[in-house]
Amino acid sequence: MIPQNLGELVSFIPNKTKPIHNWFYYKEGFSEEFVNWALQEFDLKAPVLDPFCGVGTTLLACKKAGLHSMGMDVSPLAVLVSKVKTRNYELKEMETALEKIKELKPNPIERIPLDPKMRRLFYHKALETIWYYKEQIEAIEEERIRDFFLLALIDTTGRVANVVKVGGSLRKQKKPNMPVQKLFLGKIKKMLLDLKKTKKSSIEPTVQTRDARLMEVEPNSIGSVITSPPYLNKIEYTTVYKLELGMFFGEQETKLRAFMGDVPKEANAEFAELPLIGQAYFADLKKVLESLYTALKPGGKAVFNIAGGCFPHGPIQSNEYLEKIAQKTGFEVIENIIARWIQCHSQYRSEKIGKAKDAAILLQKK
Ligand SMILES: C[S@@+](CC[C@H](N)C(=O)[O-])C[C@H]1O[C@@H](n2cnc3c(N)ncnc32)[C@H](O)[C@@H]1O
Repeated sequence: MIPQNLGELVSFIPNKTKPIHNWFYYKEGFSEEFVNWALQEFDLKAPVLDPFCGVGTTLLACKKAGLHSMGMDVSPLAVLVSKVKTRNYELKEMETALEKIKELKPNPIERIPLDPKMRRLFYHKALETIWYYKEQIEAIEEERIRDFFLLALIDTTGRVANVVKVGGSLRKQKKPNMPVQKLFLGKIKKMLLDLKKTKKSSIEPTVQTRDARLMEVEPNSIGSVITSPPYLNKIEYTTVYKLELGMFFGEQETKLRAFMGDVPKEANAEFAELPLIGQAYFADLKKVLESLYTALKPGGKAVFNIAGGCFPHGPIQSNEYLEKIAQKTGFEVIENIIARWIQCHSQYRSEKIGKAKDAAILLQKK
């Protein structure tokens, strides 16, 4: 049965109130309910692969359902969040580590090696405290503990920076001067409380920092795929998270722009009717579909949540292209369900120029 609120389930909104899922807000994500619905409705088998795993919604939902899964994402931030949310922890060990963090007394830092543009986004004292904790956390040897605290600090950094995420960009906004130490320790306590409330599982998904276009997965080894590729014609992943990526991962925005759909030097005849960026995007998607076809076991299913892109001449419906590419790759297309419509506007938002579809597609390897 198609849920009446499928349009909401393909968004991250329901995760905002879900323990662990809400450790890091990722606007581009879908919800745990979407994954649960797909698992049940289409009788999906493990192991489940998500080649664009974002902050690990598929992986965490599978873990909760007792299914093995694996994920990859090109963004080191997304991979860190996925790992931290899906690992198994010894609560005693984590509480002892928290006690040590509580004892730390942040002190002034002489030199903060950060781009002045980024430095200006913080009150000086707040940035000093963040940097102090960052250095202390980076010195923790145990990766599991280090990553856990790092995620709490990344989340705190986003809260105290004088910027807000608006649509696909960052906008400067002065906030009150907030107590970094209190927010950071409070976040860790909340994360530990969530772990206490959650049923223990022995399952731990594997997560890799990897470009899905270059995936290497053993042929005929995957039971199902649940995934949502990046939106066509959007560079949100790099601009919206440039604060976190720049401060904690030393990533250059320009390098990260080339996620999917690097603009090609020459036209791709297969998608000649599309703007160059669309040609590149669907050529990349084709590469991913071919790899997934090989990776899936015979009869294995793939559920895609894919949204169309807005262009100056109007929307390009990605679900229709995906359907055609999948058929050419050898998949049978079983469902193509419109979950919601996204309004496209002309430049400067003066006019409405059509609606893009956000769809859920079910494919099966023959
Ligand atoms: C729509 S989001 C998926 C969100 C995920 N379903 C969740 O709930 O968190 C698409 C993801 O694809 C990632 N991505 C973009 N290009 C990629 C590539 N070439 N290989 C792997 N991941 C990529 C982005 O970093 C982003 O996290």
